[in-house]
Amino acid sequence: MILVSMTEPKMEKIMTAQIIDGKLIAAQVRENVAAEVAKRTAEGKAKPVLATVLIGDRVDSAAYVSAKGKACLELGMGSINQHLPADISQEELEKVIRDLNADPAVNGILVQLPLPEHLNEERVLQLISIEKDVDGFSPINIGRLAQKGREPVFVPCTPGGCIYLLEQAGVKIEGANAVVLGRSNIVGMPAALLLIGKNATVTVCHSRTKNLESVVRQADILIAAIGKTQMVRGSWIKPGAAVIDVGINSIPDASKKSGHRLVGDVNFDEAKEVAGFITPVPGGVGPMTIAMLMKNTLRAAQIQQGE
Ligand code: GUN
Repeated sequence: MILVSMTEPKMEKIMTAQIIDGKLIAAQVRENVAAEVAKRTAEGKAKPVLATVLIGDRVDSAAYVSAKGKACLELGMGSINQHLPADISQEELEKVIRDLNADPAVNGILVQLPLPEHLNEERVLQLISIEKDVDGFSPINIGRLAQKGREPVFVPCTPGGCIYLLEQAGVKIEGANAVVLGRSNIVGMPAALLLIGKNATVTVCHSRTKNLESVVRQADILIAAIGKTQMVRGSWIKPGAAVIDVGINSIPDASKKSGHRLVGDVNFDEAKEVAGFITPVPGGVGPMTIAMLMKNTLRAAQIQQGE
């Protein structure tokens, strides 16, 4: 009698991360927002309106603001763009913000950062009405985010998008060791606060952190927002970790028509062989920022209409 083994031949297990498709998840968020906006307008309610304020002529800022305005229109919302000269005075800029605060047709206000050097960012951000602060950068919103038992009206869009991606991918945040690379006001710090609020144990790393690699290697969840091209190597990643790459860096690539391509703060090709989950660049966190902004703008309209 011949015995046939029913066991599979032994194969070496190669770990390949699940790619978190930010483009798809952002499209779903946008679809939900568009459906809610359509429902509201069908009921005769005013469409949500986002006012963007762009100061000066930074090409990157202009592109971001234009993408935000375009998204509003695609989702059935209104968009107003105030493009102000680079040499505008603090007083003139503050008047623009006060007028937008007072305008009942404006639901959300976004001042594109960074501002030209001579302007006081803190004073500008604290002037934005908390109920219109769809970027979540006003000191009151950030202060509430930083305090236990308090709720911000709005959560900053990019960090909020990072958390949303983790949750959609089914990554458990509670009790996880989370490492945030970078401590910027726009991403790193609010991302750390959000993770703490979700009961992760959080370490924030920055340019003065010692033994960075070994700290990163402890991370069950890594949020990389340090702006350094492919700095995080595959060997830094804990096997099975969830890696959220916020970096958007341009590198030369002769094979592309444009002569360059975008990469993150993580070496994707290496990291995907070790991580359990990873966001690509482009197509990971990037599309989430605008999707969360649209969600916040809809929420702003609901709040202002007493809903
Ligand atoms: N500059 C870079 N990212 C952002 C953002 O999310 N909001 C604003 N207002 N400015 C930015």
